[in-house]
Amino acid sequence: MTKITAAITAVGKYVPEYVLTNKELETMVDTNDEWITSRTGIKERRILKGKGLGTGYMAIKSAQDLLQKSSVNPKEIDLVIVATATPDLQVSSTAAYVATEIGATNAFGYDLQAACSSFLYGMSTAASYIESGRYKKVLLIGADKMSSILDYTDRTTCIIFGDGAGAALLEANTEGLGLQDEYLRSDGIGREFLKIEAGGSVLPASEETVKNGQHFVYQEGKTVFKYAVSNMSDVAAKMLTRNNLTEEDIQWLVAHQANKRIIEATAKRVGVSSEKVMMNIQHYGNTTSATLPLLLADYEKQLKKGDNLIFAAFGGGFTWGAAYVKWAYNS
Ligand SMILES: CC(C)(COP(=O)(O)OP(=O)(O)OC[C@H]1O[C@@H](n2cnc3c(N)ncnc32)[C@H](O)[C@@H]1OP(=O)(O)O)[C@@H](O)C(=O)NCCC(=O)NCCS
Repeated sequence: MTKITAAITAVGKYVPEYVLTNKELETMVDTNDEWITSRTGIKERRILKGKGLGTGYMAIKSAQDLLQKSSVNPKEIDLVIVATATPDLQVSSTAAYVATEIGATNAFGYDLQAACSSFLYGMSTAASYIESGRYKKVLLIGADKMSSILDYTDRTTCIIFGDGAGAALLEANTEGLGLQDEYLRSDGIGREFLKIEAGGSVLPASEETVKNGQHFVYQEGKTVFKYAVSNMSDVAAKMLTRNNLTEEDIQWLVAHQANKRIIEATAKRVGVSSEKVMMNIQHYGNTTSATLPLLLADYEKQLKKGDNLIFAAFGGGFTWGAAYVKWAYNS
């Protein structure tokens, strides 16, 4: 029997129109363009404005972009996964809403939360369903409205994150293309270093939690940076050694856009030169679950069937991992 692999066969994206530049941030907090650029590589990020618009809105737009570019009938989609740390509503599944809105009426949908590793973990989940033969078409969307959980008086976090969404369709492949290998990790030691303290079951929302600003992202930047550099580099390098690949075999590094310095450190460890490193952090900042699919959408035209891609991500929890993917199509 021919082995079934899971391949990405289409991508789509959406970023909000509003551009929040470093210059504008200078008027909001005590910071400057030079500091932000040199420490993070970020020049601007997108912010979703408009009452009542949440992550689901961006997820729908990115899925519609994918559907419009490809010939996929939404009714053929079996499953919609929305990878996100900022769902539209507590309890109610954002993915269920997205599936209905895009006409994927034969699909079921659920959200997947692993902070900045959500999309990478989602690729693993989607691929497992497909490889087992249980489902044929899985729409995986990475979307986050980070502006909804940021304190725009805290210069250590508000400069880093942005809003956006990216979508990828995964389908069965019999040519050996798609996901080849993965190595996913987590360590609960990270819980204290990157989190939102209140609003969950440990510390439900109250007047006091709102007053204390405990519904905003809190992070110990230096600690997160240290863990991100070593862990992302380790797992990315492991993808090469475990699959007998050298740096010449790799066409692209698709690394979570957390900080340009973290991405460069990972590239150095893997041994790939800068022209093989996908990079759009300068335009969008860290969009959490959306960084990887936004990279794929932005670089889609340069990707060729058979290209070897190394994915790597790191996020809150801590969660992190890497994947080795053979690209499946020419656009
Ligand atoms: C947040 C981050 C950019 C800070 O960079 P850094 O080089 O570690 O900087 P530090 O936190 O050591 O701060 C250095 C100084 O800059 C100051 N600073 C912090 N934010 C600043 C800002 N936006 N503008 C100007 N100065 C700032 C600090 O207060 C500190 O001042 P001090 O030396 O007088 O105390 C970096 O730690 C980082 O990227 N961490 C990982 C974050 C991340 O990726 N999170 C998501 C994980 S998926």
